[in-house]
Amino acid sequence: MARLGLRRFPPPLVLSVLLLFLAATASAAAGKGKGKGGSGGLRFRRESGTFKVLQVADMHYADGRSTPCQDVLPAQNRGCSDLNTTAFLYRVFRAENPDLVVFTGDNIYGLDSTDAAKSMDAAIAPAIAMKLPWAAGIGNHDQEGTLSREGVMRHLVGMKNTLSRFNPEGVEIDGYGNYNLEVGGVEGTPLANKSVLNLYFLDSGDYSTVPSIPGYGWIKASQQAWFKQTSASLQLNYTSEQPKQKEPAPALAYFHIPLPEFSSFTASNFTGVKQEGISSASINSGFFSTMVEAGDVKAAFIGHDHLNDFCGKLTGIQLCYAGGFGYHAYGEAGWSRRARVVSVQLEKTESGEWQGVKSIKTWKRLDDHHLTTIDSEVLWNRGSNGRRKKNHDGS
Ligand SMILES: *[C@@H]1O[C@H](CO)[C@@H](O)[C@H](O)[C@H]1NC(C)=O
Ligand SMILES: *[C@@H]1O[C@H](CO)[C@@H](O)[C@H](O)[C@H]1NC(C)=O
Ligand SMILES: *[C@@H]1O[C@H](CO)[C@@H](O)[C@H](O)[C@H]1NC(C)=O
Ligand SMILES: *[C@@H]1O[C@H](CO)[C@@H](O)[C@H](O)[C@H]1NC(C)=O
Repeated sequence: MARLGLRRFPPPLVLSVLLLFLAATASAAAGKGKGKGGSGGLRFRRESGTFKVLQVADMHYADGRSTPCQDVLPAQNRGCSDLNTTAFLYRVFRAENPDLVVFTGDNIYGLDSTDAAKSMDAAIAPAIAMKLPWAAGIGNHDQEGTLSREGVMRHLVGMKNTLSRFNPEGVEIDGYGNYNLEVGGVEGTPLANKSVLNLYFLDSGDYSTVPSIPGYGWIKASQQAWFKQTSASLQLNYTSEQPKQKEPAPALAYFHIPLPEFSSFTASNFTGVKQEGISSASINSGFFSTMVEAGDVKAAFIGHDHLNDFCGKLTGIQLCYAGGFGYHAYGEAGWSRRARVVSVQLEKTESGEWQGVKSIKTWKRLDDHHLTTIDSEVLWNRGSNGRRKKNHDGS
């Protein structure tokens, strides 16, 4: 019998096609998040109804112990190296116990790294050792060593516990590391199998390749098209699939290089500090207006300018720097290295059941003696933006 024959002598081709099919089915199921939370099992916590993201910007990791610190006080120079960056990661992970760690690029400093893959492994190691789910994007320095941008991203997606992805499948897109993650509602509640919070990761490039345009890279039209399509599909699913939700789920965007709109603020309308210029691309590729039009992104988080750590709100979207994290990255002596935390809180019904997102808060942690928390603020509240917009529409 054919069936018996197949079992006794499985032709390799049939077997591998079968395995591929099974793998594809499994990953499609994981992507849709049916029954296992969002992407990679990400979901809100039952006890607190929270989901916490810790952003690490600009580690600039190179060769570890032999790579010295930059811009620390003279008395701090001795014995200061990449290992201080590693120690800060462990400290802040223990203090915050995040649900997801996001590395927003310049994770390694390619120029000073002997082996880019080894540097990346060492840089990310604390997240893996502490079994924290993590996602990464690339900046403008990750590819300056032994790996290309493509090579760095391929290495990242192959690392343990990562939720990073190379790029969406079957889509022509610029850059490496454009993907989205879904965060499921609390297990056992009606929103358990829906993505109640969405995360977008985009490659903001490194340097312009257009001779007439100097300076840094930008988020290209192909990436914006993918973002628009993904956002529209997520919003449609959230509001039309059972149990139907009235408003789209909020979203956060993470990338490396600031948009030109980060220059819209002064100390009167941001929280945090601006101690250097905004190093965005010299042209505006329109990603900010693309996000405003899509409507779901409530805050965008970047790195790149290590001495800026502010959040400012423009047209309903919070634009936030994280501030520099790494000790081999430029900084300011006496000004602590830092990380940004975002804590997303679900709404609870009167009967005590967790619903969709109610608010998004943020604060920063400093690498000082007490891991001081500073600049806590609410970035977004359900209702405040939405309601005002409805009134303007006359509804
Ligand atoms: C979520 O999916 C799981 C697994 O498919 C199922 O058992 C559960 O009933 C679903 N929950 C809801 C609220 O739809
Ligand atoms: C770097 O780490 C060493 C060893 O733990 C420590 O003594 C030193 O204070 C750290 N330096 C800074 C600037 O945190
Ligand atoms: C929306 O739902 C459809 C049908 O379940 C699914 O194929 C699609 O991937 C979902 N969209 C996103 C962006 O997850
Ligand atoms: C911030 O304040 C400055 C100075 O008052 C003003 O010019 C600018 O338009 C404000 N920006 C935003 C985004 O409100």
